[in-house]
Amino acid sequence: MNAASFDAVDVIRAKRDRAELTDAQIDWVIAAYTRGDVADEQMSALAMAILLNGMSRREVSRWTDAMISSGERLSFPDLGRPTTDKHSTGGVGDKITLPLAPLVAACGAAVPQLSGRGLGHTGGTLDKLESIPGWRATLTGEEFIAQLREVGAVVCAASDNLAPADKKLYGLRDVTGTVEAIPLIASSIMSKKIAEGTGALVLDVKVGSGAFMKDVDRARELARAMVELGGDHGVRTVALLTNMATPLGRTAGNALEVRESVEVLAGGGPADVVDLTLALAREMLAAAGLEGVDPADRLADGSAMDVWRRMVAAQGGDPDAELPVARESQVVAAPADGVLVELDALAVGVAAWRLGAGRARKEDAVQAGAGVVLHAKPGDVVRGGEPLFTLHTDTPERFARAVEALDGAVVIAPEGARPDLLPLVIDRVA
Ligand code: URA
Repeated sequence: MNAASFDAVDVIRAKRDRAELTDAQIDWVIAAYTRGDVADEQMSALAMAILLNGMSRREVSRWTDAMISSGERLSFPDLGRPTTDKHSTGGVGDKITLPLAPLVAACGAAVPQLSGRGLGHTGGTLDKLESIPGWRATLTGEEFIAQLREVGAVVCAASDNLAPADKKLYGLRDVTGTVEAIPLIASSIMSKKIAEGTGALVLDVKVGSGAFMKDVDRARELARAMVELGGDHGVRTVALLTNMATPLGRTAGNALEVRESVEVLAGGGPADVVDLTLALAREMLAAAGLEGVDPADRLADGSAMDVWRRMVAAQGGDPDAELPVARESQVVAAPADGVLVELDALAVGVAAWRLGAGRARKEDAVQAGAGVVLHAKPGDVVRGGEPLFTLHTDTPERFARAVEALDGAVVIAPEGARPDLLPLVIDRVA
């Protein structure tokens, strides 16, 4: 039997006039857009109507199904251990996947993470890992399964056949002012994660200046929509809302963040990175039904580091290689004595990006060594004239624009003042 066929204009008009789209309309419009039978301008109009008029839970769920069905859906029936993954909506200095994936694998779960490259001021996990000499992001399907079975953790690039409808639609939303629609964000993220085949999923929904959700209420709304979609598709899903008003850890930039992640795996590293890694690991293990293991023990006894080394080596990387260092550096000094009460995540992210750590267009290359090192975090006492940031780049003509981005990034209050910070984990949605 042929699938139903519709006129794209009727589907656009229905959503424009606040009607609910039928399952058949949704299946058709996604498939026809992926094939090229619905034009970009028609899909743009529909995306705008969705942004303005929203979607019911049924519509978002069906839209997600249709995007999953536009490509392959992976599954791992014979691994012998449960699968669990994490997705972050993106933040500055967010290197958490690097210590987290091997840690959770060391606790007995398998982590099949298909990841992306960064665009704009938030770095991509693949860009960070690619700063390790020899490491490659692309694996065949057989290599992916073999590594998942033997090492327990894989972070690699998604194939072009994972939710191809989303790839096309996301590019369109980016240039039509329709990225911000919660039903479209939720279905975009969840179609890829569900197609990836994980049995359980923890979402790290970032909130604050460095995140694309600036306020807690909208972040909670997005988290709820994604948790519902996970449940509707048989993936046990939990979300944490976490603070992205200030960068995570003390580094933003690819190799700089790998170095900091290895410190965490070695039992050190900044407290916020360690705390968030452990909080997300506990959620991932609980969602996978593995509650008897304390990830703090696996971090302390070196078993997470062992998995990291095997995970890097399995993808051609040398875990003992020196990481790239940028050719030039410049120090930015604290303007006054006092307590650092604010350190803006967005400003640091933009500075790192301008130094070469991120890309403006998909086809741009990133500099492995570029980025920002933070010498103080909110709550620390600083002295005027002492280093506050060190900027790193291979192309020193970038320093001026990076320094400009950091103008106004910090607030220093008289000694004794305390920063008014949201907690690292703001809320949990299950
Ligand atoms: N990330 C995605 O994958 N999709 C969105 O729509 C927004 C962020």
